[in-house]
Amino acid sequence: MLLNTDDFRAAARRRLPRGLFQYIDRGTEDEASLRRIRASLDAVRLEPRVLNGACPVSLETTVLGRVRPTPLVIAPTALAGMVAANGETLLARAASRFGIPFTVSTQSVEPIEDIRRGAPDAELWFQLYVWNDRARTADLLRRVAASGCETLVLTVDTQMPPKREYNLRNGFGVPFRPGLRNVTDMLCHPRWLWTVVLRRGMPSYGHYPPEFRNGLMTGEMSEGLRLDPALTWEDFRALRDAWAGRIVLKGVLSAADAERARTEGADGIVVSTHGGRNCDSLPTTAEALPRIASGTVPDLLADSGIRRGSDVLKYLALGACAVQLGRAPLWGLAAGGEAGAVALIDVILSEMRTTMGFLGARTPADLTAFTG
Ligand SMILES: Cc1cc2nc3c(=O)[nH]c(=O)nc-3n(C[C@H](O)[C@H](O)[C@H](O)COP(=O)(O)O)c2cc1C
Repeated sequence: MLLNTDDFRAAARRRLPRGLFQYIDRGTEDEASLRRIRASLDAVRLEPRVLNGACPVSLETTVLGRVRPTPLVIAPTALAGMVAANGETLLARAASRFGIPFTVSTQSVEPIEDIRRGAPDAELWFQLYVWNDRARTADLLRRVAASGCETLVLTVDTQMPPKREYNLRNGFGVPFRPGLRNVTDMLCHPRWLWTVVLRRGMPSYGHYPPEFRNGLMTGEMSEGLRLDPALTWEDFRALRDAWAGRIVLKGVLSAADAERARTEGADGIVVSTHGGRNCDSLPTTAEALPRIASGTVPDLLADSGIRRGSDVLKYLALGACAVQLGRAPLWGLAAGGEAGAVALIDVILSEMRTTMGFLGARTPADLTAFTG
């Protein structure tokens, strides 16, 4: 029975090659950040109110100027299309059933045009990694706008390739270098191998130009398609001028940066430690949120470490208006495709409603937390 995100994670572990499962599941360096994220969420307690007749509860929330049925957003995750064939489209379709936006990663397997075709009703956001080659970045943004996407999420916390030692050991990586260990790993998961790789060819980054996609698999990645390691506020301003829709900055943990983001014209920020996957020495989202929320800032979204509906409520109580799910929907996708992702989202929403009922919180705005 799949009753909680851990159950979906266990199903994903059985179905996916070990290298891919670990790529999704694990953190960076000593994984201290992963442990701190969990501990800091566990340390938040939600204040209950009684005898206020707060039932039924409503999850309705305003995010980036729009009223939405829930405060959830599906976070961008690279290579979701390796978890299942058409993984990004399936996730977008699952999210759209709940009116939840789905964020397409620059490094998705399926390009945004295909996802739009496969999930015509989905609200698609697009996560941008800025390539060194600005002309190609601008071309990509034109495709994104032409696909009807209005919200751009600029990720600013991935200046360096992270040191994920487990992936160096298990041989999962981009570029993919076949070796005894990773090939045996794939052969041991024949259903995955057939549906994801053999039927369609080795998955790659769908937004990268065709001449470089093969390069991704052979190690000949062009300098122009590497992520710019030295972005500045000036780059943000140029993007702000070029993009007509909303812009969200993802990966902000400092109150000063959050206030600057507002004055520079950001519509929102995502307070995020990138799920403990990039730098292992950061404050956690739960630590940073209250400090950031006390300033004059744009809409606050938050992510990292959500495993229960109550985790979502904790970030809301600490000042977020919306919360992103990263790994959890991928586990749902691995466990059962689109239906698995729907079931996973359902579990989180149902846990949110139950906990809000216990707290006497009629809406997310009623939530308050104890910390420390
Ligand atoms: C497999 C995987 C791939 C990811 N790829 C991206 C990406 O391409 N761009 C990005 O901004 N964040 C990426 N992230 C980070 C997520 O957007 C999000 O910040 C993080 O997963 C939240 O933590 P959680 O997984 O504990 O929910 C990725 C996360 C995972 C697990």
